[in-house]
Amino acid sequence: MRIDIYTLFPAMFLGPLQESILKRAQERDILSIVLHQIRDYALDRHQMTDDTPYGGGQGMVMKPEPVFQALEATAGSSSAVVLLTPQGRTFTQDIAQELAQQRRIALLCGHYEGVDDRVREHLVTDELSIGDYVLTGGELAAMVVVDAVARLIPDVLGAANGAGDDSFASGLLEGPQYTRPAQFREWPVPDVLRSGNHGLVAGWQRKMSLRRTLERRPDLIDEDTLSASDRQLLDEIRQDLGEPDEVGPGI
Ligand code: 6GU
Repeated sequence: MRIDIYTLFPAMFLGPLQESILKRAQERDILSIVLHQIRDYALDRHQMTDDTPYGGGQGMVMKPEPVFQALEATAGSSSAVVLLTPQGRTFTQDIAQELAQQRRIALLCGHYEGVDDRVREHLVTDELSIGDYVLTGGELAAMVVVDAVARLIPDVLGAANGAGDDSFASGLLEGPQYTRPAQFREWPVPDVLRSGNHGLVAGWQRKMSLRRTLERRPDLIDEDTLSASDRQLLDEIRQDLGEPDEVGPGI
């Protein structure tokens, strides 16, 4: 997959893209990320990329010409041109999945008070926000999108830590995880995980996943779509936790 990123601050991306899984995916040619400095496509002598808003108001607005020039010169056959803006629809795992199916996408990082609306209207195919808070620009949001999308591309993650049982991929949060030592201070790893009984382990993990989701993100649980065995586990969890208004030990 190829991801073109259009930004006034390409250096912001260098750290995140040159470490760990994203670095390895690029080295293995599974992922190609190309940074474009929008300023390089400004037409005027001063390479101006922003200007004051028509009608007055706070701050500056990104000019349309450099953005159109940059994308028309380089975005090629990208099927999606995504503007990162707090006004976009909220980025989710489902949207990451959709983007990960594309051969090539373009991410455009908004800045200042925003971009000239003709960019949004005539160039952009989608607008994404990463949540209900305001960042100084779209760059950090673009990095979030790149990371979430890249790890869904086949073979980017090794088989050992694939994306299959992620929180959200299954619709549930992951349960607790442990590694050695079996006893740390006065806190042992739950016996069942060391029992060697795979069926028992799987059942316990499913139950803990349901329990954590019920306690932290009850909005993610749709009982109508759960299997009979999951509904049975939920009943057990509710009994373990006592009456609904009684706070459990918490996990
Ligand atoms: Cl995509 N941009 C900015 N500036 N702020 C945000 C955002 C994007 N998503 C959440 N907050």
